[in-house]
Amino acid sequence: MCSTEVGMDYVNIPHVVAMVGLPARGKTYIAMKLARYLNWVGLPTKVFNVGDYRRQAVGSYQGHDFFHPRNRDGTNIRNKCALDALQAITFCLISQDVCEFLQSGGMVAVYDATNTNEERRQLIHHVICQSMGYKLFFIESICNDPKIIETNIMECKVTNPDYTNMEKEDAVKDFLKRIEHYRSLYEPLDEEKENQYSFMKIFDAGRRVVVHKQEGHIESRIAYYLMNIHITPRSIYLTRHGESVYNQLGRIGGDTDLSHRGRQYSNALAKFISDQSIPNLRVWTSCMKRTIQTASGISAPQERWKALNEIDAGICEGLTYEEIQEQYPDEFAARDQKKYSYRYPRGESYEDVLVRLESVIMELERQENVLVVGHQAVLRCVLAYFLDKSAVELPYLKVPLHTIIKLTPQAYGCKVEFFKIPIDCVDTHRSKPVVSINLHFSLLEATL
Ligand code: ATP
Ligand code: F6P
Repeated sequence: MCSTEVGMDYVNIPHVVAMVGLPARGKTYIAMKLARYLNWVGLPTKVFNVGDYRRQAVGSYQGHDFFHPRNRDGTNIRNKCALDALQAITFCLISQDVCEFLQSGGMVAVYDATNTNEERRQLIHHVICQSMGYKLFFIESICNDPKIIETNIMECKVTNPDYTNMEKEDAVKDFLKRIEHYRSLYEPLDEEKENQYSFMKIFDAGRRVVVHKQEGHIESRIAYYLMNIHITPRSIYLTRHGESVYNQLGRIGGDTDLSHRGRQYSNALAKFISDQSIPNLRVWTSCMKRTIQTASGISAPQERWKALNEIDAGICEGLTYEEIQEQYPDEFAARDQKKYSYRYPRGESYEDVLVRLESVIMELERQENVLVVGHQAVLRCVLAYFLDKSAVELPYLKVPLHTIIKLTPQAYGCKVEFFKIPIDCVDTHRSKPVVSINLHFSLLEATL
């Protein structure tokens, strides 16, 4: 089967995304960020980094000469490393491999290597499309801004396992030479010669983007997402509203005002934010009274998002967890079984909330410093995106009241800091019950 046939339905065909570009062009960064996003939207994705295969194959790093095009051994080993990953796709030999991953429910495998010449890309195309029948999408990062390259090397390369025993300065020099070896063989994706491929080119960290022959919804999602991201340093602040009247009563949902302590938090939050002197801060709240009241003292431009409203608990709105258990025991038990996908009758599931939050995430990616004043379920979804948490962990993430969570994107992930404001409040977190384990033990006892 060849997935590039005209008129083919791409909806359920697994994809291989192959990175292209010189070292220190953000390929791993893009690969990992993309994987985080695709996993979050429910498309199982995994990154396969050929550098890891190389390190496994040859052990410790032997300096930039290893990458010299005239270094026969080095080139052979490097080709072998790339082939290792590809051969694994074909023959499904290693459990961690692309092929096994795609055959066992994976939807997108990101092949993170330099893939800097036409011949290599042809080989990838042959194996992925012609032999395996998967869809292939190349993403090339081209960057000639020396400032960005230098920052990338300082931030991500000198701390790389290749340089554990080298001084920073020597590591930078070595890495620059390594780049030159690759440059001597580099053939950027050619729209004429390689016209048959689907690909995207990102110039100078997103200043310009070219999308070529993009097909199907997965590629379109990938292209749209990568058009929205940027690497300007910034922080995202998340907080729930201050304690509400319903929080105090242990009731879920509703649209009540802040409690007295909630209003105190609102004042403390305004002071905290002002003390941080955050440049060009924007404040986003939901359309509910409790978030709007919480943000009311902050002097920064504010926007209301319906998409940030709390999960709609349908027939359970306004009840306590105990009342739900009493009045709707089956519903209560069903939610504990599969909290992420459970949908309240006439209400929403976490999965539904996540879908409506995609537009918020996309806009967050476009913005710089933002404070989001939201709700427990909504912020769990947002946090899961930034911290790469699975759908199983997501509905149990701890997002306490009267706490500010500061997220600062770093290298390949996010630094997270919690600032607890010392104003008393109730705890609305309900942990995953361990009932099934107890049940299991009592059944075991009964059998014995
Ligand atoms: P190597 O080939 O050595 O593995 P790489 O191309 O994978 O290098 P990364 O390790 O991903 O490079 O570099 C990470 C850095 O790249 C981060 O500091 C990030 O801010 C920056 N970066 C992210 N996107 C881009 C981009 N489109 N262009 C240039 N730099 C980027
Ligand atoms: O209790 C506060 C609250 O924001 C409710 O409005 C909402 O239904 C609930 O938290 C979501 O948390 P969980 O999914 O754990 O019930």
